[in-house]
Amino acid sequence: MTQIIAVAMQKGGVGKTTTTVNLAAALTEMGKRVLAVDLDPQGNLTQHCGFDPDRVSPTIYDAMKAEIEGYENRVAASIYPTAESFHLLPSQPELSMTELALINTLSRERVLWTVLEPIAGRYDYILIDCNPSLGLLVVNALTAANSVIIPIQAEYLAARGALMILSSIETVRRKKLNPDLSIAGILLTMADTRTLLAQEVREAVTAQYGNSIYIFETLVRRSIRFAESAAAGQSILAYDSKSQGADAYRQVAHELLRRIR
Ligand SMILES: Nc1ncnc2c1ncn2[C@@H]1O[C@H](COP(=O)(O)OP(=O)(O)OP(=O)(O)O)[C@@H](O)[C@H]1O
Ligand SMILES: [Mg+2]
Repeated sequence: MTQIIAVAMQKGGVGKTTTTVNLAAALTEMGKRVLAVDLDPQGNLTQHCGFDPDRVSPTIYDAMKAEIEGYENRVAASIYPTAESFHLLPSQPELSMTELALINTLSRERVLWTVLEPIAGRYDYILIDCNPSLGLLVVNALTAANSVIIPIQAEYLAARGALMILSSIETVRRKKLNPDLSIAGILLTMADTRTLLAQEVREAVTAQYGNSIYIFETLVRRSIRFAESAAAGQSILAYDSKSQGADAYRQVAHELLRRIR
């Protein structure tokens, strides 16, 4: 059975894309068949996988556009093998127009699912990298997914409205768009180990959400290797296989498999 996992959080720069690419690499290393989906018009995941979002064509934009306009979407043509053996369904800047086009589309929340359905069976895991918003693209991801990973910067959780994504998840369940959507967990990223803050935040999060939401035991620490690997168009597992960051995402993958098996 294919597991579709959305990596979503309304705040920008919390590690969604980093989590998607490195989890894809870690699951691939474990012998799983993985598809990474870039659902962000910024195209960061596409770039991180070594493709140019301004040049790669066709992309998820073409598949969703076809579906919205009632043509055959031919999504398989938009899937590319990466150098690290998982597959990528890339994005391009025009995907930002899809958000608008969706508004007047019938079953607008289910377009992504309709696009993914014919190819889902080819994979064990499909990871969807979301844009930092609570808009229709994210709702499409939440509707298509079995579960959600919520990455969050350890220091940020105390902020007001920090987990607005939870309301979106609740809405998607309540409106019966996806009643069985589960939360795989909150992943604390970019933890600064030189301060005690990360541990304190972890305890605060556990106190606040720990009863209802799983919090990954693995803490992804801050490391310059992440930005370096992104610039190199590689996962951290490929860029520096023995690094702490690579190990962190291997551990996240193991935890995830324990969680959703
Ligand atoms: N653990 C980490 N340590 C240090 N830097 C990190 C870490 N994780 C991610 N980064 C860097 O932080 C920046 C933001 O990360 P990323 O792009 O994954 O966030 P995002 O949530 O996808 O952002 P957006 O909301 O814009 O899509 C990137 O430059 C990335 O390389
Ligand atoms: Mg991103």
